[in-house]
Amino acid sequence: MKNNKVYEADDQMISLIRDNYNVLQSLGSFGINLGFGDKTVDETCKDNNVDTYTFLTVVNFTINDYFNPDDSEKLSMPTLMQYLEASHVYFLDYQLPTIRKQLEDAVIQDDGLGKLIMNLYDEYAREVKKHMKYEERMLFPYVKGLINGEASSNYDVTTFSKHHGQTDTKLKELKNIILKYLPGDTLRNNKLTATLYCIYNNETWLGLHAKVEDEIFVPAIRRLESRIKQSNVAKNISSMVFKGVQENGNILSDREKEVIISLVQGMSNKEIADHLFISTNTVITHRRNIARKLQIHSTAGLTIYAIVNGLVDISSVKL
Ligand SMILES: [Fe+2]
Ligand SMILES: [Fe+2]
Repeated sequence: MKNNKVYEADDQMISLIRDNYNVLQSLGSFGINLGFGDKTVDETCKDNNVDTYTFLTVVNFTINDYFNPDDSEKLSMPTLMQYLEASHVYFLDYQLPTIRKQLEDAVIQDDGLGKLIMNLYDEYAREVKKHMKYEERMLFPYVKGLINGEASSNYDVTTFSKHHGQTDTKLKELKNIILKYLPGDTLRNNKLTATLYCIYNNETWLGLHAKVEDEIFVPAIRRLESRIKQSNVAKNISSMVFKGVQENGNILSDREKEVIISLVQGMSNKEIADHLFISTNTVITHRRNIARKLQIHSTAGLTIYAIVNGLVDISSVKL
């Protein structure tokens, strides 16, 4: 349902619904109740503790396909999460059972045929449930972790994206069977027509839900992931530098620095001794003192220390 108007914070909430009644479904998922009078989108969102920008992003995207990925920086991840989680609840606990009842009422008289149709619907419902439960079990906790600054080592949004498939094949099949093969009297025909409307609506809704996940949620998660990765690297570096200064007792001597520089360039104790015109035993003593001062024992660790503290340039190190 495109109308090409990009809604803004100052628009009246009621005008959004008048223009696009589909927005009603989003309202519930954002936790916005009806009864907002003549308030603007911004006022209504604030009354309901919903981030206005995120609300408008989802609404404009679902109505007009309008979304600029550069804007994902400004999205509120908690609001987006709340929206997606509530959408699942709405879908699993309300929409699927409601359509089931309606369908059952329309086909119940068909005995065997009706039972087969219900089986097909139940299979579809099971698939959707499996899809959503996976997201609730894996993706949502992962994103909540990211929001709290924790990066998981065994899950990421690329893994999610790879497996985020479609779930509506069985529903399409069901629609086709009803449309093409189910004969009936007027009453049943009316019931089936009403059910089909709901099924089409349900299909659109689920498609949009998946689209919001793929095109808004996934890029926003990627952004969050890279921000956390960067801040973890920065934290590690600063703690390494801090540790170096703190635990030294005193700063490394120039000779110790020279030993580190030689070590990270791949020299053996003997080569370092020759290079610095000192004995191998003195090199070993320097190395022991360096390890004690820095609490870094491996060459790999010393290499990182040397790069971070500007003793060597990363290009001169054999990685
Ligand atoms: Fe979902
Ligand atoms: Fe999904």
